[in-house]
Amino acid sequence: MKAVTWQGKRKIGVEQVPDPVIQEPTDAIIRVTSTAICGSDLHLYEVLGPYMKSGDILGHEPMGIVEEVGAAVTNLKPGDRVVIPFQIACGHCFMCRQGLQTQCETTQVREKGSGAPLFGYSELYGSVPGGQAEYLRVPHADYGPIVVGQELPDDRYLFLSDILPTAWQAVAYADVPAGGTLAVYGLGPVGQFSARIGRHLGYRVLAVDPVAERREMAARHGAEVLDLHKDVAEELRDLTDGRGPDSVVDAVGMEAHGSHVGAAAQHAVGLLPDKLAQKAMETAGTDRLSALHGAIDAVRRGGTVSLSGVYGGMASPMPLMNMFDKQLNLRMGQANVKRWVDDLLPLVEDSADPLGVMDMTTHRAGLDEAPALYEKFQKKEDGCIKVVLNPSA
Ligand SMILES: NC(=O)c1ccc[n+]([C@@H]2O[C@H](COP(=O)([O-])OP(=O)(O)OC[C@H]3O[C@@H](n4cnc5c(N)ncnc54)[C@H](O)[C@@H]3O)[C@@H](O)[C@H]2O)c1
Ligand SMILES: [Zn+2]
Ligand SMILES: [Zn+2]
Repeated sequence: MKAVTWQGKRKIGVEQVPDPVIQEPTDAIIRVTSTAICGSDLHLYEVLGPYMKSGDILGHEPMGIVEEVGAAVTNLKPGDRVVIPFQIACGHCFMCRQGLQTQCETTQVREKGSGAPLFGYSELYGSVPGGQAEYLRVPHADYGPIVVGQELPDDRYLFLSDILPTAWQAVAYADVPAGGTLAVYGLGPVGQFSARIGRHLGYRVLAVDPVAERREMAARHGAEVLDLHKDVAEELRDLTDGRGPDSVVDAVGMEAHGSHVGAAAQHAVGLLPDKLAQKAMETAGTDRLSALHGAIDAVRRGGTVSLSGVYGGMASPMPLMNMFDKQLNLRMGQANVKRWVDDLLPLVEDSADPLGVMDMTTHRAGLDEAPALYEKFQKKEDGCIKVVLNPSA
């Protein structure tokens, strides 16, 4: 089959690889019909390279049609249309039972000190072949796949794989008081949906991003938008009676370290091919920390900061005195996809499209275009906000 593979820093390949096969009775094989590129893939593209091997299949936002199921999979049958959550969880352990699927105790990548494995997301998350391919092997398919109807177009459902539950969790964790104000830093796909969910739940939403067309997209879904500048936290306070927003979602993330296993991250720095790359990585890390620090600065006293952007530096400096004095609440983590599906499914199927899932994808192409589209998405060229690949195109 054809698959999108990691070939090196900022180098994406499209290769012929062996078709996946059922390996465990709980596996399923799906034929992928749509598969998106995530902002998290950009971390692999740039700074998480040391955890990737040449030829690793990328992608963790797929949906498609079930081709084959293992003997223990009774919830699916060939022909079912499914969305695949980006994490692999068992559904019945201590963590899964309380909706913490990204911490699944059956599947945790213990040798790396990481939580549940993720499709296409480096050795830190289990080296599982990803979903930017014609076919995908889905482990624990007796629990993970979300079965959806056959009628509506893929875009209605596709974002249930990752960015919609990520944004939903980000806003839930932000704990906005009824009628309160939510600020969102970062208007990539995760920030866009966080802003729309905030509006949908009746909050005032103030959204910050340096890229004009991303601000425009958020504005047409009801957010008040602000360009990024050094006094943006001050501007947010000015817009909220001098107090600051009740809650802030950070949907930017810190490029530099990328996971919770800081020791391994430091190891990665040592593996970087050249000093210049190292320098660039440190600079990117510092820049991204400014979004988190901005969120902490902007939020009102006693408010909540919710991180959906990926962070992981063991030694990232945090303004603890300020955080303590302001009496902040802080929540974070990978999204527990299945925890939020019951909330989201009716919204994506609603003909009024309240979260605007049909107004997210800006670029669509076959797998062959993946290398060019990774580059466009990373450089934010050509108005690129969200890329969907269709393997059969
Ligand atoms: N927690 C999860 O489960 C989960 C799931 C998906 C994605 N993510 C993470 O969420 C983050 C966003 O993902 P995305 O797909 O939206 O990616 P993206 O890269 O398209 O979005 C990031 C946005 O932040 C903006 N930005 C950069 N610096 C900023 C700053 N200082 N202040 C405000 N905005 C700034 C960029 O212009 C861009 O629009 C990434 O870190 C990604 O890894 C986490
Ligand atoms: Zn993702
Ligand atoms: Zn589990």
